Amino acid sequence: MKNFLKQASVLCIIIFAIVLYSCNKSNTSNEILIGEYASLTGSEATFGQSEHNGLVLAVEEINSKGGVLGKQIKLITEDNQGKPSETQTVVQKLINRDKVVAIIGEVASSRSKAGAPICQAAKIPMITPASTNPEVTSIGDYIFRVCFIDPFQANVMSKFALNSMKVKKVALLIDQKNAYSTGLADNFKKVFLESGGEIVEEQKYSAGDKDFKAQLTAIKAKNPESVFIPGYYTDVNLISIQAREIGLNCTLFGSDGWESEKLTEGKAKDALEGSFFSTHVSADDPSPVIQNFIKKYQQKYNSKPDAMAFLAYDAGMILFDAIKKANSVEGEKIKNELAKVKDYPGVTGIITINEQRNAVKPAVVMEIKNGNFVYKETIAP
Ligand code: PHE
Repeated sequence: MKNFLKQASVLCIIIFAIVLYSCNKSNTSNEILIGEYASLTGSEATFGQSEHNGLVLAVEEINSKGGVLGKQIKLITEDNQGKPSETQTVVQKLINRDKVVAIIGEVASSRSKAGAPICQAAKIPMITPASTNPEVTSIGDYIFRVCFIDPFQANVMSKFALNSMKVKKVALLIDQKNAYSTGLADNFKKVFLESGGEIVEEQKYSAGDKDFKAQLTAIKAKNPESVFIPGYYTDVNLISIQAREIGLNCTLFGSDGWESEKLTEGKAKDALEGSFFSTHVSADDPSPVIQNFIKKYQQKYNSKPDAMAFLAYDAGMILFDAIKKANSVEGEKIKNELAKVKDYPGVTGIITINEQRNAVKPAVVMEIKNGNFVYKETIAP
């Protein structure tokens, strides 16, 4: 009996010590863990790389100013290789294994749609910097974005086509398995027809295709004044080259998915001369906020930021601000603060999150000149 008591008390002491140690560990942890999922590799790797660069800039800046709630922000980044299935795996890992308190991601709408339900179910706030498909934030009240949505982007390009490009007969070339592309095409078609435009042909492709000549030939046969291609830069690069090869010489125009330094690589530099696309921010904008951000970014990365970098920086800063205001790392409290964001002065403009958890902001239209993106005009909501 005596021996038993002795053993039991030793056991108690050990358990007590373990409990004490683990409490101590979490209490004194000097970090707040934030997750990020991004396409750092894969066919849209520049989307993820730019997002990551912009976000890292935000993290370093907040940490150099003392962090949030007296703790440093620690970013845990996962590469989903641009795949929806891999997205689910990495988002689950961020939440269950790493125990992040909030998540930033993704750029591409289909991948945000893969990650968002997991965040929503776990009550972990998620902010997508750049996904514009409306369905992303309707997944639930923990899902936010700091960019505009595609019904607006479609409106912008419909107006631009009719009023600035002065084209009425347009053909569509759509990435059929990409929610962003099909959604944007539907929205475009609706407003363009309502505004007196005509859709003379509609053709489809699948991301990763290499040969677009059948679709382009069908489009050429209808003699459009312009072709709207709401797709991603890797495909648009090839599409533009092949369009010129088959003698489809009209102006091409598109949307934010075009934005990458890789869009105009190789022969696409000539093929896309004089094309237009809509996006979120222009590096030509002389506003000091934008120019300061470009300077900071260039100092660190030795390259110019694109829209994803700007947006990811804003997503990060808005999240840190929400954690500060929540005075807590609890998901529910953070999401309540995110829902209240009003007139936040971001590097992509003044950000107010509306009831659908979307940002309402202007879009810019860029023209491609000599392989560069040149500011053309701003269109307000
Ligand atoms: N808006 C695109 C999407 O939802 C992603 C994107 C944003 C691409 C900004 C480039 C620039 O899929």
